[in-house]
Parts: sequence; structure tokens; C-alpha cells
Amino acid sequence: MSAVRSIAVLTSGGDSQGMNAAVRAVVRSAIFHGIEVYGVQRGYQGLLNDDIRPMDLRSVGDIIQRGGTILQTARCKEFMTPEGQQRGADILRARGIDGLVVIGGDGSYQGANKLCKLGIKTMGLPGTIDNDIPFTDLTIGFDTAVSIVVDAINKIRDTMSSHERSSVVEVMGRHCGDIALYAGLASGAETILVPEVPYDLDEVSSRMTANFAKGKRHSIIVVAEGAAKGHDVAEAITEGCGLEPRVTVLGHIQRGGTPTAVDRILASKLGDYAVRQLIAGDSGKACGIVKGELITTDIDLVVNTKKPFNMEMYDLALRLSQ
Ligand code: ADP
Ligand code: F6P
Repeated sequence: MSAVRSIAVLTSGGDSQGMNAAVRAVVRSAIFHGIEVYGVQRGYQGLLNDDIRPMDLRSVGDIIQRGGTILQTARCKEFMTPEGQQRGADILRARGIDGLVVIGGDGSYQGANKLCKLGIKTMGLPGTIDNDIPFTDLTIGFDTAVSIVVDAINKIRDTMSSHERSSVVEVMGRHCGDIALYAGLASGAETILVPEVPYDLDEVSSRMTANFAKGKRHSIIVVAEGAAKGHDVAEAITEGCGLEPRVTVLGHIQRGGTPTAVDRILASKLGDYAVRQLIAGDSGKACGIVKGELITTDIDLVVNTKKPFNMEMYDLALRLSQ
């Protein structure tokens, strides 16, 4: 006996590669288990506009490989208010929808938490390139974003080494340095600047000068947008040691394109798991994967916990970058 008869799925906040694979998994898993399933267009904004349509097996065909989200996404101010949240819950209830899967980041989770307190059975799926959600090793889209950054740095490195230059690459991550950390380690960056670790640009300049003196012929500095602006870092280095690094700001290119197999598999597992948890009567939870195992955590705890930074990985990158 299922705890839900009819569920809806929405994508919210910044999009990420693999959101489509997650939507597909939710829809197909629900249908497999005999549950009615609806798609809400444009996140919480679409919910308040009652922009909700039934989904079937074919409505999620040919999307597993696509970036973006077929349900589209939005940021919705009205939903931040208690009145907006109540209206959202009422709209779902009026349609006989008793469960909701929210695919998004921290802000979207807060919205899911509010709906849960208003009696809607909710499940959160971590859909963000930033990897800033605690209680999951990975978020959907992170692996693809890191691959895009690594690919870009490979290209930048070719021209930097021909010219014996240095380069600053600014990547996304307003509050979380994981994209910079993982991409920096994977691409052999000399310096990685993240919001979680204090840094000194004079020290960065001295290290670059010393490394050039030791025979290094190019250097890459990866900076998370939450740590500093790439152009400011380059200016400080130019003033500090005269090396005049070139600057690349990768921007939204990191959020587009076809998801990697890792993201598609993660999204498929999590989407199916969220539906099975709702059927089993679980609610108010965020789904995640920890050491290969699917888990749920109270969404209240998730939104009130800061993801710990992986200092071991940061130190490793530093050790290997001399
Ligand atoms: P992300 O989910 O990627 O972190 P946002 O922080 O922009 O993106 O949040 C997405 C949407 O979630 C917001 O536009 C808003 O509608 C909703 N939301 C965010 N914070 C809250 C909150 N505290 N209460 C209710 N809804 C929220
Ligand atoms: O998706 C998260 C994120 O990519 C942040 O790293 C970035 O600062 C932000 O979204 C930018 O998103 P937007 O341009 O949609 O506001």
C-alpha cells in the first residue's frame, strides 16, 4: 500500500546538468509503481501559477542526455512568504497531489521544507553544480561542471605553455569552493583559491616567482568566484611579481551541455529512490549518496548545516603543485 497516490516533480533555482535525468527517473519510477505523476513548470513560480501538467512515459523520452531542464526553472519571491507557501500547498491539494519531489539547491530545499510543514509529503534531490549540499558526497551536475572546467583548463594550458605564461581561471561557486578544488586538483593547478580557506596574494606571487625560477614554464591559478574576482587576482599578481597572468572567466558554460555518465547515473538512482521513499511513507527528507549508499536526511538538518570543506584534498592539491 503506497503512502502517496499522486505526486509532482519540479526543478528550482540554478539549473544543473542531470536535472532532466532526475525528472525522467521520478516520472518513470512513479509510473512503474502505479502512482500518478505531474510536472510543475518553472519551479515554485509555476506552482503558484498552477502551471502543472500530467507526465507520462513519453513526456520524458529523449531527455536523459540533455542539459538544462525540460520543466524549466525559476526563482520565485512570492514563494518566500508564508502566504505564498500556503497557496502552493493549497494548489497541490486541490489537484489531489499529495507528494512533491523538489530538484534544486539549498534555497529550493528551504521551500520544500516549508511545504512539508504544511502537510505536503516532500523529497529533495540535490540539483546544483556547486556541490554545496551536505549529507551527500555529490550533487547532480557537479561532475559535469568539473569536467567542463578541466577541459577548459587543458586548452588554456596549451597556449599558456607555448607562451610561458600564467593564467587565472575563475569558476563558479559563490559559497563553496568544490568546483575549484576538484577541477584544480584534476588539472594540476598551481594555486586554488576557495571561499573556505584564507589566502594571501603576496604569497601566491612569491610562490609563482619561485616556481618559475625552479624551471616551471606556466602556471594555472583556479579561483572560485566566492573567493575573489579573477581579474582582481591577476591584477594583484601583476603588482606582486610582474607576471601579468591572463584571465578566463568560465561563467555559465559550466552549467550547460550534456551530463556525464556519473551525473546521469546519480540522477537516475536518486530520482527512483525519492519516489520509493515517498511510497514508503517518508517525507520532509533530502536524498543523497554517501560512500555509494543512498540515504535520506531531515531536510531541516540539511538546510541548517554547512557542508564541510575537504581540507585533505586541498592539502593534497597543494603538495602536488610545486
Ligand atoms: P537554489 O535552490 O539553487 O539554492 P535559490 O536559492 O534561488 O536557488 O532558491 C530557489 C527558490 O526556492 C527561490 O526562488 C524561492 O522561491 C525558494 N526559496 C528559497 N529560499 C526559501 C525559503 N527560505 N523559504 C521558502 N522558499 C524559498
Ligand atoms: O548554480 C549555482 C551557481 O552556479 C553559482 O555558483 C553561481 O554564482 C550562480 O549559480 C549564478 O547563477 P545565476 O546567474 O542563475 O544567478
